[in-house]
Amino acid sequence: MRLGNLPAGWTLADPTSRDHHSTIPTSVDTNASDSTRTSVLFVCLGNICRSPLAEGIFLHLVHEAGLTDRFEIDSAGTGAWHVGERPDARASMVASKHGVHLDSRARQITSDDLDRFDYVIAMDRENLRNIERLADAGGNDAEVHLLREYDNSGDGDEVPDPYYGGASGFETVYEMVHRSCQNLLDQLKAA
Ligand code: 4NP
Repeated sequence: MRLGNLPAGWTLADPTSRDHHSTIPTSVDTNASDSTRTSVLFVCLGNICRSPLAEGIFLHLVHEAGLTDRFEIDSAGTGAWHVGERPDARASMVASKHGVHLDSRARQITSDDLDRFDYVIAMDRENLRNIERLADAGGNDAEVHLLREYDNSGDGDEVPDPYYGGASGFETVYEMVHRSCQNLLDQLKAA
């Protein structure tokens, strides 16, 4: 696994520190990767708020750019509590307000994802730590970054968890995810 640059002072801690964290599986994901495409996996905790927004926004931007054939895009959570669920209604609502449709079902990241995807993009540092722990169990090829490494606003490194907040938090998250996804796409296009 190739980690993106970590800001000074960051440490990699035990991902099980969060009470409701489940064990991250290392089972085989059966989907095959298409080597002609650039594959991007967005990762958050539950895979019902932030990473579905990132997946939907990135898909939307890729479609607008006429590049749908060049990308494989997905999202996953480090936790398993919401597996099989549609995105949180507040995430779908804010996306819809901006003309973006969310069409994901929550799933949990596996170590195979770290071999299958070219880029694994974490929403926050806790996700990043969990991804690194998962890499220790097997997957090694993905380039791993924090999404907000691509945000040029300069007002933070993480996409905050909006789950326990109100609708305004989802709007803030939408805006920072949109900015970051646009810059990520611009970089990948130029690569
Ligand atoms: P997400 O938000 O990681 O952006 O999908 C969350 C969703 C669910 C929970 C926490 C965060 N939860 O504790 O169930």
